[in-house]
Amino acid sequence: MYLQTLDILNFRNHKKSSLNFSSGINLIIGKNGQGKTNLLEAIYVLFNGKSYKSSLNNVLITLGEETTVVKGSLVGEEKKEDIGVMLKINEQKNIKINGMQNQRVKDLRNIVNIVLFSPEDLKIVKGGPGGRRDFIDEVGEQINYKYNHLKWKFLRILKQRNNLLRQVIGKRWKKEELELWDDKLVLVGSKFIGARNEVVEKLKPYCHKINLKINSKKNLKINYLNNLLNNGDVEGEFYRKIKELKNYEIERGNTLVGPHRDDVGLYLNGVDVRLYGSQGEQRVVSLCLKMAELELIKEEKKKTPILLMDDVMSELDEEMRDNLLSFILNLKQSIITTTNLSYFNQEYMDRINLIEVYGGSVKERMCLKT
Ligand SMILES: Nc1ncnc2c1ncn2[C@@H]1O[C@H](COP(=O)(O)OP(=O)(O)OP(=O)(O)O)[C@@H](O)[C@H]1O
Ligand SMILES: [Mg+2]
Repeated sequence: MYLQTLDILNFRNHKKSSLNFSSGINLIIGKNGQGKTNLLEAIYVLFNGKSYKSSLNNVLITLGEETTVVKGSLVGEEKKEDIGVMLKINEQKNIKINGMQNQRVKDLRNIVNIVLFSPEDLKIVKGGPGGRRDFIDEVGEQINYKYNHLKWKFLRILKQRNNLLRQVIGKRWKKEELELWDDKLVLVGSKFIGARNEVVEKLKPYCHKINLKINSKKNLKINYLNNLLNNGDVEGEFYRKIKELKNYEIERGNTLVGPHRDDVGLYLNGVDVRLYGSQGEQRVVSLCLKMAELELIKEEKKKTPILLMDDVMSELDEEMRDNLLSFILNLKQSIITTTNLSYFNQEYMDRINLIEVYGGSVKERMCLKT
């Protein structure tokens, strides 16, 4: 399926904008600060019920307004779906699918998946382990509906166990009574480590393939880094480790082993790109990870996700730009923002749907596509 129309009301600097998209490449062009990223963010909210930029829904609503509405219609073979998200200041979101109110994010994802690449994604490579874990979790949640449930179950147990560890110090909880929570942590934590490792293993071949297409000269390898996986008995190893560290954990009031402390290794021609990569290399690796995510979702769900890309071309050299463009041309739909049309190879321009944004409104649409 692809997104055919988008109607937004009071979303950031867009008071009221209506857009038509086509399948294939859609290019949103405009100068700095006009509302290009805001349009991508609105599309992201439409499919995820929340933003990738802020956890506060209130900031998405145009300053001085109380409600924002984002609506979209999707078309596929013999099918049409109308979806909408309404956000009110300090209230729960309301998702509407084909006229039915109060639907779930899971139901939106069953219609189509979205993969977004934005400048913030550099943190997957350059930032701390948390950003890499989040990336793997995002992929896991999209390909396996049970993944999210497992993740939250683990996080709840972790929170509870950390609370108890702090109470042992305050003598309100006996050390032995912690054992029940050790069991839960090990059982669910081991399952979660297994699920994360499976996502990384599935991403592996796609990372390699995409990197060859875009960044042809180098070889990209991805690895899940968790010491408990080394000898195959994750649960046994997990138990041994928390027993060994128990006193230290009580002292610190924190669980020191588990999937919440894992990392993902990224190697370009064998060199750790997290630590040694140049700015450009780190950018391309984060891009390849996102494109690998898209290809994996496509394979697992037998549906091509919609790709959103925010201002990516300016960061790449000409060869990589062309490689990326020929990859994107084969997708069902992509929506890309840019400040500069010259980044796009002229021979493709007749196949691109062009949308111009100025001061929070869609100024004109030059549909070059035949
Ligand atoms: N809640 C809001 N209400 C009103 N305006 C907002 C709100 N949130 C953000 N804006 C404004 O929206 C404007 C456009 O932002 P946006 O990030 O979409 O620009 P852009 O076209 O992507 O620019 P750039 O090329 O610099 O990335 C900004 O000037 C910002 O101040
Ligand atoms: Mg922007």
